[in-house]
Amino acid sequence: MHFLTHTAISIALTSTSVFAASCETYTPAGEPYTQPADRTFIVSKGEVCESTTGDCRIPIGGYVTEGRTLNVTIASPGPIYDLISDTVRFVFNDTATTWVGGPSPGEPQEWPIQNGTAAYVGFTANHRCTSGTLSGCDDSAIEGAAVEACSPYTIADGLSGTFHAIVSDRSSVEALTCNPANTTAAKNGNNPSNCSDASSQLPIGDASRFGGVSTILLVGSLGVAVFGFGSL
Ligand SMILES: *[C@@H]1O[C@H](CO)[C@@H](O)[C@H](O)[C@H]1NC(C)=O
Ligand SMILES: *[C@@H]1O[C@H](CO)[C@@H](O)[C@H](O)[C@H]1NC(C)=O
Ligand SMILES: *[C@@H]1O[C@H](CO)[C@@H](O)[C@H](O)[C@H]1NC(C)=O
Ligand SMILES: *[C@@H]1O[C@H](CO)[C@@H](O)[C@H](O)[C@H]1NC(C)=O
Ligand SMILES: *[C@@H]1O[C@H](CO)[C@@H](O)[C@H](O)[C@H]1NC(C)=O
Repeated sequence: MHFLTHTAISIALTSTSVFAASCETYTPAGEPYTQPADRTFIVSKGEVCESTTGDCRIPIGGYVTEGRTLNVTIASPGPIYDLISDTVRFVFNDTATTWVGGPSPGEPQEWPIQNGTAAYVGFTANHRCTSGTLSGCDDSAIEGAAVEACSPYTIADGLSGTFHAIVSDRSSVEALTCNPANTTAAKNGNNPSNCSDASSQLPIGDASRFGGVSTILLVGSLGVAVFGFGSL
């Protein structure tokens, strides 16, 4: 039993984990495609919406860390990304931390939370991907390997992705008293998933032109309301 398990693990490791490697040819299996990244970042505080006038709106924005992915583990995958990039003609970006959404930089931005729900807002980057096979490799472990390589990409507004309200249970939402993406940790590339260290919330003026938003922002003239608040 032990021998079998160990052998299975060894095979799994040698077939997916390779040190610096290069290949001569990448053959795409089809056209490039886009798909949501695996990770969703929380980019707002929690909001329990109990409104008398309609949906609630909350400020969204924060630092997210995204980068290229390859579904085969290679210690120094640079040459493989370069080969794939030369073939499919799009770039595979290294990991980078960028601000998405409002209020800074750019215009203030809010997101609706439906009345009667407890929710927060998530951001999921879009990835541009290709799948295909590697050949002419100097390492037999990846010769003929089917791979998928993906990269975040930029559009006019910044990092391409989608915001979406994530409905959760009331106590989890109430515990989310900060916006974890609006923190020094997130700015440094380590997004916390909760507010256990809310002291790391970015100081006013660092990420935002306005501060202290704790009220439920009501529908209607929102841009004006928020902007007016900011100039206090
Ligand atoms: C919001 O929801 C509460 C409870 O679900 C309800 O009593 C209230 O009328 C709703 N308000 C609006 C504006 O729909
Ligand atoms: C990587 O992705 C390709 C294309 O989807 C797939 O055929 C292959 O099995 C994946 N390899 C691993 C190790 O997950
Ligand atoms: C990817 O890298 C290019 C420069 O090589 C840069 O202009 C672009 O903003 C980057 N995009 C992302 C999503 O990191
Ligand atoms: C809070 O986040 C930290 C870091 O992201 C994590 O280590 C910890 O387990 C989280 N705590 C809870 C209760 O989810
Ligand atoms: C980020 O934090 C600052 C300072 O606490 C706050 O003024 C701003 O509204 C926050 N922005 C978002 C989008 O959470």
